[in-house]
Amino acid sequence: MEPKSPPDVLVVVDRWSGAPLHRQLYQWLRDEILQGKLPAGSRLPSTRSLAADLKVARITVTTAFEQLRAEGYVAGRRGGGTVVRNIKPDNVLLARHAAVPSPTTVARGQAPGQTAPRPSATTSPLRLSHRGTALVAAAQLFPAAVDVPEAFSIGIPAIEEFPTRLWARLVARRWRRPPSLGSGDPAGYAPLRQAIAEYLAVARAVRCAPAQVMIVSGAQHGLDLAARLLLDPGDAAWVEDPGYPGARAAFEAAGARLVPVPVDSEGMVVSDGVVREARARLVHVTPSHQFPLGGAMSPRRRNELLTWAREAGAWVIEDDYDSEFRYASRPLPSLQGGDDQGRVLYLGTFSKTLFPGLRMGYLVLPPALVDAFAVARSAGDRHPPVFDQAVVADFLEGGHFVRHLRRMRRLYAERQEALVEASRRMLGGLLEVPPDAAGIHLVGALPRGVDAVEAAVSAVARGVRVVPLSRYASLPREREALLLGYAALPVPEIEAGVARLAAALREM
Ligand SMILES: Cc1ncc(COP(=O)(O)O)c(C=O)c1O
Repeated sequence: MEPKSPPDVLVVVDRWSGAPLHRQLYQWLRDEILQGKLPAGSRLPSTRSLAADLKVARITVTTAFEQLRAEGYVAGRRGGGTVVRNIKPDNVLLARHAAVPSPTTVARGQAPGQTAPRPSATTSPLRLSHRGTALVAAAQLFPAAVDVPEAFSIGIPAIEEFPTRLWARLVARRWRRPPSLGSGDPAGYAPLRQAIAEYLAVARAVRCAPAQVMIVSGAQHGLDLAARLLLDPGDAAWVEDPGYPGARAAFEAAGARLVPVPVDSEGMVVSDGVVREARARLVHVTPSHQFPLGGAMSPRRRNELLTWAREAGAWVIEDDYDSEFRYASRPLPSLQGGDDQGRVLYLGTFSKTLFPGLRMGYLVLPPALVDAFAVARSAGDRHPPVFDQAVVADFLEGGHFVRHLRRMRRLYAERQEALVEASRRMLGGLLEVPPDAAGIHLVGALPRGVDAVEAAVSAVARGVRVVPLSRYASLPREREALLLGYAALPVPEIEAGVARLAAALREM
């Protein structure tokens, strides 16, 4: 069957929207399929011709197709064409998609940028607010729980190494002398805020009083609170490109206009951000260890960023998600420690230092924002769970946190070395995996001309998960790469994973 171009819709791949192009294309195709405009059996155009028509890189199209394939909307392989599957989404799914006009779908006669008409009550059983619509369009359903980490899923610490017996003792002891079982403080349990302020002063050169520390439900909650309190719809927000999708989702959901700012070996190219949008309101940066490329922001760039933020009256979120795991040199001081104008919100998480299921992190707020964040918190989840915070406070105060980090740092350094060494032995000419001074994943560079999405698909068939770097980028990059998480994997699994990856890449 020939590809069917829906007559009443134009595809708009908007390079300046900040949303990754592959996601814009994926959403458009998915909507076409769900609305029956691309019926079962329709053959999608080849990735090459669609890329040429849309004037985008072929990787953009292959990434979009791969996502559709992974979610079961289309089937088919390279060479044989991609065909829409006969899916019967249930009514809820249909209703949800019908109620969410894709930001990339523009009816004919409507100017690009104009919003699509809202679904009427008679055509849709589910009506979301404008805010809800933006939120659902911006975010992705968080992946299901990871119990057994797979080679080479990213972002997962060595959960099997967590000292659960010690934790159980601390929990039992806490129940014998519990913290208040009544309500808690919206900003968090005071002894935990004190312990975090002390830890950050020593380990990260963060300058703050305990009153500036707010306990949040993981870094994502901090990003969401910051976006809702600091951004108005239409405001510009700088994000690193490539960068963390959680920040993009939170900012987009608040109605912000994302401004992707390229990253080089010195971190975010601030001067480029100024050229793209000098009056941005908010910036997300990972200065200690850029996500996902690695590398630290240079002192020169840090100065440029703080100077610009002061002049523009912009806020900077310093996302310090994994700086505890630095192997080759001493951890770099935080950006917050060098900010004497109160423009930086420092964000940390226990997702990697303790365990992801804890859902706990911390925001260090500039003094001017402390009260507003506490009041806003009261209108949301009121306050974080008191009991969990008391156990974490005991873990920190008893010196267990620092000991656990020291042990994990040694273990992750060994695991990283094993990955680099196994890659050198088995992946020569297929994937170049250099070491990194920090973090819990590595970035492997593919030879020129090798398609990262096809590599990832081929790896999945061999039971290996690798994420194409392009998933995190909207600006074109010179070389394609794959991300490989290693912290959660014992050395024999790293070796076996590399062997399977080598077979997959050789097979392509
Ligand atoms: C850049 C970045 N920020 C924050 C987080 C952690 O988020 P959370 O604390 O919500 O689990 C991650 C996790 O992968 C990350 O990569």
